[in-house]
Amino acid sequence: MIITNKIKYYFRYIFLISIAVTITQCRKQPAKPTGLVAEKAMVVSARKEASAIGVEILKKGGNAFDAMVGTELALAAAYPFAGNLGGGGFMVYRKGNGDVGALDYREKAPLSAHKDMYLDSLGNVIPGKSTIGATAVGVPGTIAGIFKVHEAFGSLPIKDIIDPVIRLVEQGVVVTERQAARLEHYREQILEVNGDNTLFFNTCSAGDTLKYPALANTLRRIVKNGRDGFYKGETAKILSTFIQDQGGYVTMADLAKYEAKWRQPITFNYKDLRIISMSPPSSGGVTMNQIFKMIEPYEISDFGHNSTETIQLFTEACRRAYADRNFYLGDPDFVDIPLDVLLSNKYLAGRMEDFTFNKATLSSEMERGKIHISESSETTHYSIVDQEGNAVSVTTTLNGAYGSKLYCDELGFFLNNEMDDFSAKPGVPNMFGLIGADANSIAPEKRMLSSMTPTIVEKEGKLWLVVGSPGGSTIITAVAQTILNTYEFDMSMQEAVNAPRFHHQWLPDFIVFEPDGFSTDIKKELKSKGYIINEDRTPILGKVDAIRRLPDGSLEGGADKRGDDTAVGF
Ligand code: DON
Repeated sequence: MIITNKIKYYFRYIFLISIAVTITQCRKQPAKPTGLVAEKAMVVSARKEASAIGVEILKKGGNAFDAMVGTELALAAAYPFAGNLGGGGFMVYRKGNGDVGALDYREKAPLSAHKDMYLDSLGNVIPGKSTIGATAVGVPGTIAGIFKVHEAFGSLPIKDIIDPVIRLVEQGVVVTERQAARLEHYREQILEVNGDNTLFFNTCSAGDTLKYPALANTLRRIVKNGRDGFYKGETAKILSTFIQDQGGYVTMADLAKYEAKWRQPITFNYKDLRIISMSPPSSGGVTMNQIFKMIEPYEISDFGHNSTETIQLFTEACRRAYADRNFYLGDPDFVDIPLDVLLSNKYLAGRMEDFTFNKATLSSEMERGKIHISESSETTHYSIVDQEGNAVSVTTTLNGAYGSKLYCDELGFFLNNEMDDFSAKPGVPNMFGLIGADANSIAPEKRMLSSMTPTIVEKEGKLWLVVGSPGGSTIITAVAQTILNTYEFDMSMQEAVNAPRFHHQWLPDFIVFEPDGFSTDIKKELKSKGYIINEDRTPILGKVDAIRRLPDGSLEGGADKRGDDTAVGF
């Protein structure tokens, strides 16, 4: 009897140990992929057509940088909502040999811009002037950006890259359900800005094909004359005359002076990850660095995905990081940013000293302001990994949906309303509810502060994730949560991208939740601790397109289910 009991205990002990070992091993095993898996190379973007152009370029021997040029341009036709020639963006890269870098092709304020250009005589912000029509347009950076990349790292002749895009633009792109709905939603505004003679005058339905012959001609001039085919000569003349005729500020001189700039990316460690992200004039890398360092001392994985504690910890880190963002960050060519302090462990530990799981810190106790946040996802992000292991992470934008809504029919593209990303007046929120300070005030040739966060993550010194998102101020939290979902909560790339997200940005002082995935009990508990929850809306927060490198070198795509986003690979 005693022996039988001993044997029983022994077996129970062995059983429990083996369960514990299995659980530990499970945690160490990378999550099984649920997205598209490709052996060698992959492009994930907002539209299948754009991902396919990138892959076509890779298949004919191009590298990730060549594929970036093609994908970026293809998005102008396949996803004119945000893909662009008339906007700008940021790119972070990691080459197969481990070299990293970042490119800033952000728009700039025109030479005639000045601090109070969007204020009336009483010093109030003039509604719409920085968001709608020609007055909102900053000097576009996209074409300078792709040529800078191609010059440095391209391997195929530019013609071989752009020709397939010209074919796509001429053959046309089939309108999806979502695209038809978006065009319908913004049609009135587009017509108000452009009149009845615009390409977008005709309504279109899902299944129709949209062709862009004027864009094809613009691209031909670019193939022929390089970046001068956009910033000088015929295109520049048409573009600057068009913008000025509509009351805007961009001149031939502005276009001729535009330069994209290489920047040092922001790099930092989070546990055994190395995260490489965009530096100012984007706030993405700095703010994400602050958030990750503030949560690092906690075992967030033990709290569980989207649990009350996880939401609290993440929210409190965001509250503090966004407060710093809005005050200290701006174009580094114009303002001194105290990065050494903002990113120091001592400073960040101090920022979290008053954090407790018992109750919310109120933003009004850290700063003031009653403002409004609007949800949207009008930028676009794409991720590329090529067969040589080069990785490219790019976020590109017109700012708002179809930018300023101003469409240059003669050239075939929309123009940005990026000037709204400046702080038109200290303390007054922009369209993302972000309030700025002097660091982000307007000046000639200055770049407006961004939240775009194209990011690459290394694990154990090797390429692991390529990730980014649209979503204005919500970009940073969407990217950070996607990284945490894969690393701390063991999700596959596709699961991490699809998982429900939440957002807090210091002001306005509330947490926004996506619908589904957050129980009433969790919200009740948070409320009882003093958190304010925005229950009016159920927005989409970000639209992440990402790639995860699996241990055998194959790639898993995460194409956000929130859009028409598609991974293509081989
Ligand atoms: O640079 C920025 O932060 C914004 N212009 C991004 C705009 C954006 O993501 C639009 N979608 N919501």
